Amino acid sequence: MRLTDEERAMLEGAQGEGVRKAMEIVVALGTIYGAQDLAPVSHVQVSGVSYKNLGDAGLEFLREWAAQGARVRVPTTLNPAGMDLRHWRELGFPADFAAQQQAVLDAFTAMGIETTCTCTPYLVGYAPRRGDHIAWGESSAIAYANSVLGARTNREGGPGALAAAIVGRTARYGLHLDENRVPQFLVNVRCPIRDTSDWGALGYIVGNRVANGVPYLLGLDPAACDVVSLKALGAAMAASGAVALYHIEGVTPESNLGFQISNLKEMLVESLDEGYTALNGPVSGYRPTIDLVWIGCPHASLDEIELIADRLERRRVRAALWITAAHQVRDKAEARGLLARIEASGGRIVSDTCLVVAPVEALGFTSMATNSGKGAFYGPSHARVATHFGTLEQCLEAAVRGEWQ
Ligand code: F3S
Repeated sequence: MRLTDEERAMLEGAQGEGVRKAMEIVVALGTIYGAQDLAPVSHVQVSGVSYKNLGDAGLEFLREWAAQGARVRVPTTLNPAGMDLRHWRELGFPADFAAQQQAVLDAFTAMGIETTCTCTPYLVGYAPRRGDHIAWGESSAIAYANSVLGARTNREGGPGALAAAIVGRTARYGLHLDENRVPQFLVNVRCPIRDTSDWGALGYIVGNRVANGVPYLLGLDPAACDVVSLKALGAAMAASGAVALYHIEGVTPESNLGFQISNLKEMLVESLDEGYTALNGPVSGYRPTIDLVWIGCPHASLDEIELIADRLERRRVRAALWITAAHQVRDKAEARGLLARIEASGGRIVSDTCLVVAPVEALGFTSMATNSGKGAFYGPSHARVATHFGTLEQCLEAAVRGEWQ
C-alpha cells in the first residue's frame, strides 16, 4: 500500500503511541481488503458506545487509547449510548450502569470527540457532501450517507472508525471506489408504500433478498421519498441484509449515473406481507399487552415528533411511549412546545440512546410495539422483548390502550 511520508511517520510512532496504534489498524484493514492507498475523511461516526455492549474490557481499551495520547483530527460524533445522558435517573436507568456509561463517554471526550450520541448525525448538522470520504460505523446511517447523500463509507466497526478519526484517513477500498457502487439487483416495487412502517417492511424484504448487495429500486414515488421514509428503508435493509448502499430511480444522487440496469438480476415486490409477517413473527412471541411503544429508530426528526404530538392531542398514553431522538432535536422540540405536548400525553422524548443499546431488562419492559423495521428486527434479540410491528397509528393506539389490537 502506498503511504505518504506523513502516514509512514505516523505508523512508525513519530506522533506517539495512540496515533501509531490507530494507523496500524487503518493500514491492517487496507491490507486485508487490498487498498492501494488511504483517503482523507471529512467526518467520523463511531459506533460501539453503549456500556451494555462494551463492558469493562471495552471501557479499558478506550481509556488506554486515550491515555496514549490518541486525539481525533476530524469532526467525530458518537452512536447512541446506553442511556439518556441528562435524564437517565428519572427514566429509571440504574445508577451503577450510568456511572460506567459516563466513564465510557469521558474516555471519548478525552480523545476530543463530541458527545452527540445519535444514529442520525445527518439531522443535526453532520451531513457529509456528495463524494466525501467518511468513516461511519452505524448501519442505518451508513446506508443513508452512501445512498441518500452520495458520500462514501464502508461499514466500519467501532475501533476501525475511531482509528480513522485519530489519523484522519481511511483505507480506500469497498464503497470508496466507483466500481463497488454499481447495483447488482433491480427491484421492481409494485405495491403502495404509505406509512413509515411500510418503508421498514419493504427494506426488510429487499435486504433479505439482496444480502450484502447493492439494489436499484424502481417504482417508488419520488414525492414520498423524504428523509423519514429513506432512513426507515435503509435501516431495515441494513438490518436484514447488511445493505450499505441502494439507489432509487430519480431520487438518490447516483441513480442517474447510467448504470446498465437491463443486465441486473431482477426481482419483484408486489406485497409487503412478507415483511410484516417476519417482523411480527413467532420469534417475537405474542403478548397483546404492551408496556412500551418505541418510535424513533433511526432517531426521530422534528417532523416525526410534531406528527406524534398532533396525533396525541387530548389523548393520554397508558403504556410507556419513548420517542428516541438526538438531544439537539429534543431541544428544538422543547423550544417549539412539542416536548410539552408529548409529555402532557404521558410520552417522553428520550435522547442519546435507543432500545437496542439500552439495558432494557433493567428498565422492566417486556413487550414492545414499534413502527421501525430495524427496531422490530432487533427487538426480540437485543432488547429481549416481545415485539409488535405496525403503522404509527397502530403504535400510538397501542400506547393509549396499553394493548396491541
Ligand atoms: Fe438508531 Fe438504535 Fe435504531 S442506533 S437505527 S435507534 S437500533
